[in-house]
Amino acid sequence: MILILIGPPGSGKGTQAKFISDRFNIPHISTGDMFRQAMRDGTELGKKANEYMEHGNLVPDDVTVALVEDRIRCEDCNAGFLLDGFPRTIPQASALDKMLERNNRVLTKVILFTVSDDILVKRLSGRRTCRSCGKISHVSQGINNKLDKCPACGQEVFQRDDDKPEAIINRLAVYKKSTEPLIDYYKRKVLEILADGPIDEIKTRMAEDLENIG
Ligand code: AP5
Repeated sequence: MILILIGPPGSGKGTQAKFISDRFNIPHISTGDMFRQAMRDGTELGKKANEYMEHGNLVPDDVTVALVEDRIRCEDCNAGFLLDGFPRTIPQASALDKMLERNNRVLTKVILFTVSDDILVKRLSGRRTCRSCGKISHVSQGINNKLDKCPACGQEVFQRDDDKPEAIINRLAVYKKSTEPLIDYYKRKVLEILADGPIDEIKTRMAEDLENIG
């Protein structure tokens, strides 16, 4: 089972990815999480990624493709994987096609989350992430500053640099310009999920649709 999760920033990809990866017992591969981990580790990759990410721009295709190629070679990807945030450009999609072809593997589905822009801005500007367990939460869940704690493990939460207003505006524009064309690229594989509404409701809606591909 090889799945891709596509959707604008804030559409809930990270929030719903755990459910999908548990449902199919496949690893969740988020390029954004991998870049943020590299930044925390202070690696050359992390420093390079940070130059782009802090302004909401895309990390160059060659860097991103190499990162994913290495990751999907790992043994835990033998039975499949869920890509979240990759591909994000047509050249990345075409590089992924080649990777899969070389290994006689076939993409199962592309799950597309759709949500209106005003909801995305509210979600992103209020997002908080736990420094310890990585759980994503939102200020509307009662967390309102960086001294507040993660609802799952009680550790410190933080606001991502790219969730500041200017970066959010740029990320939405970059999504429309560079990533939206992928919807047409993958049109025969796309499963569209309306990602508006409460988290559990979307999970239930998605679970029903995923039954048919599992
Ligand atoms: P990445 O980390 O992939 O960010 P993104 O795609 O912009 O997506 P987000 O993580 O912002 O949103 P999400 O859809 O996961 O929403 P979430 O579930 O968190 O990438 C970051 C950066 O890395 C990029 O800008 C780029 O620089 C670089 N990068 C990564 N991949 C790359 C690539 N392939 N090529 C080049 N560069 C790359 O939810 C958001 C908030 O909403 C949370 O607070 C959550 O609690 C809340 N929420 C979620 N669902 C609901 C709901 N149903 N109702 C109410 N609130 C909700």
